[in-house]
Amino acid sequence: MKFFLDTGNVEEVRRAAELGVLDGVTTNPTLLAKENKPFREALVEMCGLVDIVNGEVVATDAAGMIAEAREIAALHPNIVVKIPMTPEGFKAIKAVRREGIRVNVTLVFSPAQALLVAKAGAYFVSPFLGRLDDIGQDGMRLLREIMEVYRPYNFETQVLAASLRHPMHVIEAAKLGAHIATMPYKVFEQLFKHPLTDKGLDAFLKDWEKARAVLGDILPVEARLAVGQAGKNKK
Ligand code: E4P
Repeated sequence: MKFFLDTGNVEEVRRAAELGVLDGVTTNPTLLAKENKPFREALVEMCGLVDIVNGEVVATDAAGMIAEAREIAALHPNIVVKIPMTPEGFKAIKAVRREGIRVNVTLVFSPAQALLVAKAGAYFVSPFLGRLDDIGQDGMRLLREIMEVYRPYNFETQVLAASLRHPMHVIEAAKLGAHIATMPYKVFEQLFKHPLTDKGLDAFLKDWEKARAVLGDILPVEARLAVGQAGKNKK
């Protein structure tokens, strides 16, 4: 499963990318509007950090979407253009696909919509799971149904589980075989955490420290100085 960050914030992308397990980014107009930065700059900087960056059109008519898709796609080869799940959006997809622009169809809330997206040859389909949960429906059921209807046809469209609210959403999406999970930075951080990891590490370090005089140091003193452990472990 690929992990994408759902954010408009370049620093979050930078921090997550440093950990070596981030595959891409999804943005949307709301996320980019929160940042005090021209969107072109934000998208291009993100493209320097990860392989896939999704940027979204804001026009609602086909001609406008086509023109915006071209502009956004021209920013960088790593760009995928998000187009909303509307009939006008589909006219735009037909046009821009011919030009080699990769499309992510966004705001998908039903298996029927997802089937249409695959037939249109989109690169990604983005079902918004959390927003269905928010209105008392079952977001994971939508994902299950999409995986089910895609399976017999081997569609090339990749399923991008979106609007994820917590780590269990990510795990459930992985169990169902979603190709990608996109999540806010907070959820990405939560994936790393477990109280027993912290507790175990704490105990290991305390035990090592107690016996350090006998055990010795892993790094020679010069190397410890170089990595900034000088004060801590200086003999
Ligand atoms: C995905 O591409 C969307 O930007 C995103 O997942 C929407 O999530 P939200 O429902 O938390 O706004």
